[in-house]
Amino acid sequence: MQKLQPPSSSNRALPPNAFPLRRTPGLLALHAAARNREASHAEFVTATRRIMRLLLEESLAYLCYEDRLVTTPTGFPFTGAALVQHELFAVSVPRAGDALEAELRDIHPGTRFGKVLIQRDTVTKLPRMFYQKLPAQIAGQQVLLLDPMMATAGTANMAVKVLQDAGVAEADILLVNVLTCPSALEKLYERHPMVRVVTSYIDDALTEQAFMRPGIGDFGDRFYGTT
Ligand code: PRP
Repeated sequence: MQKLQPPSSSNRALPPNAFPLRRTPGLLALHAAARNREASHAEFVTATRRIMRLLLEESLAYLCYEDRLVTTPTGFPFTGAALVQHELFAVSVPRAGDALEAELRDIHPGTRFGKVLIQRDTVTKLPRMFYQKLPAQIAGQQVLLLDPMMATAGTANMAVKVLQDAGVAEADILLVNVLTCPSALEKLYERHPMVRVVTSYIDDALTEQAFMRPGIGDFGDRFYGTT
């Protein structure tokens, strides 16, 4: 039987700005469902959508809040919190990042979205920039950067640079990530030590072919059914 593990038991020597979800049996069940190579398209989508919901709620919790006093239906005061930032900004890296965007649209309507289309070359594994469109007034804001996979971190580093060039501070960028590995975090933090990463899982390693091990396959292909 799986028991709840202490938060850091499986993630030793984490970079200070990397925040993995707690490895609960429930999260492991979702990862097993998604990573299983026998999973159907529908099973993969269901499991990863549930992981992305958990991730997004966790990521939203890392933004800046202020106290908010409300009155409950029973007439009592309750002090909770409200986002300091009037509008939420998020930038997705298509295609896989669009899956996170769809979930965020559901849980946080009114979010202003941008896109940075960077694709990893299938042979060289190097990122190539194709297109970018960011919301006006993104400069100086906290921004969720949406990309489920970070393997070599080439794509993430390029996307962070695009946001910095648009006036977003490195410390205001929060990468929402389903799966990464230690070497990718190192590559990101060599160049961008202030970026925060909220991830659902840090895999063991990167293979020589630049795939994560044990991995989940090509997220975009499996999510959109293009395998
Ligand atoms: C995947 C993934 C990331 C990138 C990660 O996208 O969604 O954007 O690769 O790899 P890296 O860390 O080595 O740069 P891909 O370019 O395969 O496009 P897709 O979203 O269309 O699948």
